[in-house]
Amino acid sequence: MPYAHITGWGCAAPEKILTNADLEQIVDTTNEWILERTGIHERRIAREDESTASLGLKAAWRALEMANIKPGEIDLIICATSTPEYIFPATACIIQDKLGASRAGAFDLSAACSGFIYGLNMGSQAIRSEALQTVLVIGAETLSRVTNWQDRNTCVLFGDGAGAFVLQASDQPGGVLSAVMRSDGSGAGLLSVPAGGSKHPATVETVKAGMHTIRMDGREVFRFATRVMAQATREVAEAAGLTIQDLQWIVPHQANFRIIDAAARGLKLPIERFIINLEKYGNTSTASIPLAVCEAAADGRIKVGDRIVLVGFGAGLTWGALAAEWTGPLPDGHQRIRPAISRFWARIRSFFQRFGRFIEGLIWGHKA
Ligand code: ACO
Repeated sequence: MPYAHITGWGCAAPEKILTNADLEQIVDTTNEWILERTGIHERRIAREDESTASLGLKAAWRALEMANIKPGEIDLIICATSTPEYIFPATACIIQDKLGASRAGAFDLSAACSGFIYGLNMGSQAIRSEALQTVLVIGAETLSRVTNWQDRNTCVLFGDGAGAFVLQASDQPGGVLSAVMRSDGSGAGLLSVPAGGSKHPATVETVKAGMHTIRMDGREVFRFATRVMAQATREVAEAAGLTIQDLQWIVPHQANFRIIDAAARGLKLPIERFIINLEKYGNTSTASIPLAVCEAAADGRIKVGDRIVLVGFGAGLTWGALAAEWTGPLPDGHQRIRPAISRFWARIRSFFQRFGRFIEGLIWGHKA
């Protein structure tokens, strides 16, 4: 049975920074309150011409480059997101087209902030079962587009960004070791964007009532998160045959420093064993874990052979964890792709595909 290895990773964050001082000008809050209650200093906000797909695409190119994979080698693209481009088509399909990943299936995965862990688990299960060889898992968000900028309870928490991992099959032991995925839909009302789906389609009234932005019972979500983070970490380590002490790093969902601190105390681990970068990005939902991993891999904290646990929670309610042995790019003679050239050919291919569809439409339209 092949192993599913994480062989490439990449992330992307918008350049525009929104600091706590900026937020003091927008809502009745203070830098001290935000820092003390959340640990967040600043967050990134997408420009008007940026979107979930454009951030996801940037992260994907970086991950492919790291893994030395060409887009044509990808079997499946999973985009975990709570802020898709549209209700449909899937954001994963927009990214598939822009990459020119001509052989890949593509779908979005909705499990809120746990989505990246769910996506990695699904991708690695497909590889372990020998159904697929190469899976691209993306977590991408533009939460700023569904934030109520008048609600101080929520607008200080969220930010935009994206991350992507390449999963590849290999006979070499290691890679993804175990995963747990859990849910409790009885808590669906604690954190949601109530309108815009089929239950409350967009109307003048839903817009006036602010139902297209995030509603959250912060205290209840906090209570739930502190309960499940340590528990899921323990479960996934045990399933991988590891003790908590065997783990070099825990990479938690970056929602609130106090939630991470509570998990560290629950696991009796020093906080230094947790990768934390929420002070720079806030809560970027599905992007938060890959953003933290990318930074830690880039600065040498996460090294080849390290055993790590990714653990998260989110709306749904959902939570989950995944244990992995860190691999790095596979030394199997893949040609290093040159992203600029690859992107150029992807655009040409995409143009001819569209042109073909246009001509087909003309012919069939004419015959009808
Ligand atoms: N500035 C100043 N005061 C504020 C602010 C703010 N930005 N926001 C809330 N307050 C006030 C509240 O109104 C409240 O005032 P009151 O006592 O007069 O009513 C007071 O501060 C304390 O409010 P609490 O809710 O008790 O504050 P708490 O310490 O719990 O922190 C927070 C609030 C940060 C939201 C916390 O509950 C939390 O992090 N919860 C989890 C949220 C989370 O992780 N959500 C994402 C889940 S992942 C996903 O799926 C997107």
